[in-house]
Amino acid sequence: MTTALITGATAGIGAAFARRLASDGHHLVLVARDEKRLREQATELHDRHGIEVEVLPADLSTEEGIEAVGARLEERTHPVDLLVNNAGFGHRGAFLDVPVEDELTMLKVHCEAVLRLTYTAVAGMRNRGRGGVINVASVAAFVPRGTYGASKAWVVQFTQGVAHDLAGSGVRLMALCPGFVRTEFHERAGVGTDNIPGWMWLDADRLVEAAMKDLDRGKSLSVPDPRYKTLTGLVKLAPRNMLGGISSRTGRKFGPR
Ligand SMILES: NC(=O)c1ccc[n+]([C@@H]2O[C@H](COP(=O)([O-])OP(=O)(O)OC[C@H]3O[C@@H](n4cnc5c(N)ncnc54)[C@H](OP(=O)(O)O)[C@@H]3O)[C@@H](O)[C@H]2O)c1
Repeated sequence: MTTALITGATAGIGAAFARRLASDGHHLVLVARDEKRLREQATELHDRHGIEVEVLPADLSTEEGIEAVGARLEERTHPVDLLVNNAGFGHRGAFLDVPVEDELTMLKVHCEAVLRLTYTAVAGMRNRGRGGVINVASVAAFVPRGTYGASKAWVVQFTQGVAHDLAGSGVRLMALCPGFVRTEFHERAGVGTDNIPGWMWLDADRLVEAAMKDLDRGKSLSVPDPRYKTLTGLVKLAPRNMLGGISSRTGRKFGPR
């Protein structure tokens, strides 16, 4: 029996990870800000799968939140074997339309929290000679897409770099790069989705299934789904300024909330 800690576990991709890992028999530590929602989810997963579920309410845009999750990762009596750094969000607006404080909050959650939690988790995993970290990035990492894309590009570079450093230690790290997934993400950000073609949408449970297979195979980068594998292949060949235009026309409509 192993234990997995998932940040942003109450909705979307994080909730899909929680369902999948619970059904595989892992104990869970669920992290998000909304404590009531965390407790409801914990009860449901415990009742359905008979696993132990801890809830850890924390805001990863704050020092206290990062420290609280870090303290759980340092616990030696019930170590965390798999960390899923998934919590994240989008912004409503292009650069200069978003207050710089909000851009910094995004970097705190997407980059600083991911760095600090990975650091703490991996230190214990290396000592135990086993463990895994999945850092949820995005295909936006591969196109010019404001602070969001830049933060996710950091997640990819960081994760693959650490995976290389820890090769042979028994600890696996993988950056997961989803395309558009039907979750609460776009509604929370106030981003309109009418211009995103139906074929571009992915299902969160299938995404997680593919991600877990890629982790088992020892990949350090996972781009689930053949559609997005092809698109990211083409992106490598296209000029950067052209990519910026396409990226802005697809999925970046800052419509009414
Ligand atoms: N949906 C997509 O199309 C898509 C595509 C590529 C990558 N991604 C990435 O996938 C990850 C998950 O996104 P999602 O689509 O599943 O979004 P979602 O449905 O909006 O879920 C976001 C989760 O993160 C938690 N969260 C947000 N801010 C937090 C904070 N400051 N501290 C702790 N928890 C926080 C939320 O719970 P609380 O509000 O209770 O804290 C919620 O559980 C993100 O990193 C996102 O960038 C999403």
